[in-house]
Amino acid sequence: MSNEALENLLHEDRAFPPSVEFAAQANATAALYDEAKDDRLAFWDKQAGNLTWDTPWTTTLDWSNAPFARWFDGGKLNVSVNCVDRHVSAGHGDQIAYYFEGEPGDTQTITYSDLLAQVSQAANALESLGVKEGDRVAIYLPMIPEAAVAMLACARIGAVHSVVFGGFSAEALRSRIEDAEAKLVITADGGNRKGKPMALKPAVDEAVAASPSVENVLVVRRTGQDVEWTTKDVWWHELVGSQPTTHEPKAFDAEHPLFILYTSGTTGKPKGILHTTGGYLTQAAYTHRNVFDLKPDTDVYWCTADIGWVTGHSYVVYGPLANRATSLMYEGTPDSPHNGRWWELVQKYGVTILYTAPTAIRTFMKWGDDIPNSYDLTSLRLLGSVGEPINPEAWMWYRSVIGGDRCPIVDTWWQTETGAIMISPLPGVTATKPGSAMIPIPGISMAVLDDEEREVGNGGGGYLVLTEPWPSMLRGIWGDNDRYVETYWSRFAGKYFAGDGSKLDEDGAIWLLGRVDDVMNVSGHRISTTEVESALVSHPAVAEAAVVGANDEMTGQGIVAFVILRSDAEVGDDIVMVLRNHVAQEIGPIAKPRQILVVPELPKTRSGKIMRRLLRDVAENRVMGDVTTLADPTVMNLIGQGLSSANANED
Ligand code: WTA
Repeated sequence: MSNEALENLLHEDRAFPPSVEFAAQANATAALYDEAKDDRLAFWDKQAGNLTWDTPWTTTLDWSNAPFARWFDGGKLNVSVNCVDRHVSAGHGDQIAYYFEGEPGDTQTITYSDLLAQVSQAANALESLGVKEGDRVAIYLPMIPEAAVAMLACARIGAVHSVVFGGFSAEALRSRIEDAEAKLVITADGGNRKGKPMALKPAVDEAVAASPSVENVLVVRRTGQDVEWTTKDVWWHELVGSQPTTHEPKAFDAEHPLFILYTSGTTGKPKGILHTTGGYLTQAAYTHRNVFDLKPDTDVYWCTADIGWVTGHSYVVYGPLANRATSLMYEGTPDSPHNGRWWELVQKYGVTILYTAPTAIRTFMKWGDDIPNSYDLTSLRLLGSVGEPINPEAWMWYRSVIGGDRCPIVDTWWQTETGAIMISPLPGVTATKPGSAMIPIPGISMAVLDDEEREVGNGGGGYLVLTEPWPSMLRGIWGDNDRYVETYWSRFAGKYFAGDGSKLDEDGAIWLLGRVDDVMNVSGHRISTTEVESALVSHPAVAEAAVVGANDEMTGQGIVAFVILRSDAEVGDDIVMVLRNHVAQEIGPIAKPRQILVVPELPKTRSGKIMRRLLRDVAENRVMGDVTTLADPTVMNLIGQGLSSANANED
């Protein structure tokens, strides 16, 4: 049996320091680390000072009621003023806040003055519908400018938004409306997805029919498709469009709730993660400025996340707008109408900063270099990654094919719960290693612990914990404080348990190893699914891999891998054997998969996370569980067919 909480198996020796030119112009210098270390709270005071406050705060951090934090207590501010009004007042009204590109190719250019007028109209409209400070508003929209406007309008009047991803089902929407007792739902007739209008309104009708708390539904006309109309429904263009374009904002307490965002736990119903005002905006803006090196006057920034996820909240709406960024917002999918759509957009808008997810990067890898190579991507100067561990292979591809070997890559680790980036390189400072999120950003403290709550030290693996409260931390789970304490603060006393496995390499750089429930236990060795996946993807024939631990009489768990081959790969009949040996060679015989299934697709949620639970069902020959949250529920049939024709490939 191993003593380590997690085996430390893969080694990576490549390192990429920032270029001299990048470092010379970077917003963040190494001094930030020293400043934060010298006096952490003074450091956060200074970051909060970049926002515009109506009333200054009196206490930086009140942790007396831990784990319920209060940051910048006594202070008052308005988030929408910080994101919009103050830039207009400072003379930047003509600057573009969002370039919008619809999937069908329709475009909008929204300046900060336009945004102020739209947010003011929407705020007036919400008030006319009786929405008041503290009321909850569910937002169920496609990726269109009205989504950002709706969020900002809620913030402006002190209403609490709960954005529900437009790909979720009526039942998912209903349960979130019910949990938050939302008074208003903001939706659209539909959105455009993969070349077709995708209806949203029927799901809302179904959800609202079963939700007594909802008084009205505000409906944006996006696709023009036919919709059923109920007595609660109001058209956005009629109500919002007829409102005055000015609205007098009010300042709210720093700890006033800003939003709830539901995220899935390991068991039970989704958790409504609660974020508040001053601390959240402080850290969203601070990280956006320093991790993405944003230059408001020259950059064109594109975060590809949907507003239904926390990345869309912090890095499509709040962080970028607080910093007066010019952003690109795109409605559709990367393969519509062709697989080069993203690169076409980078070229068209001269995107300088791109922030996306490893699953997208691996998809582009699979499609081949020719597609990005046929566009001019030289405007790019910085690349970011978020959402899951990025395999070194995908990192290197991102760096060379998309970034032209010129752009620093920031691999940013954080969670819905953390509200903003926690672990990431600083692009002008850190020498990055492909696949590592490197070290906590200045102001953040973490540790890697073993089962006995001891720090593992360099070279060791274990559980990632955050050891000090941070401004954008969740303030609780909506309506369930006990679950908040139980889920995050009881595994290790007084420390935030992130639920992720991680290791520290010899230099102290952090490698994220996936959720701890994705950790396999093979013959007493804990092995991360991520490391086996990375080993598989490092083989030239493999585009993507998902690994699960399946019950095994002999070894506790056996490793079962599902792989997608690259379309241009030249493989023989013995590919399974070749890959098993490849993993054995990369990591060691202990990690050799018991079984490898070559499949055409992997089951993913709409946010791109692989649904390992379903793969475990397949690997353990069980009846498949709930597939309704899959982006494409038919994927499991394809995998099932692959399985029946595959033979178990044990030695
Ligand atoms: C994973 C998304 C490795 C991790 C912002 C975390 C990552 C979960 C990274 C949170 C990264 C996010 N490297 N893993 N750079 N970023 N994760 O709440 O397991 O959707 O706990 O927030 O994604 O997912 P969530």
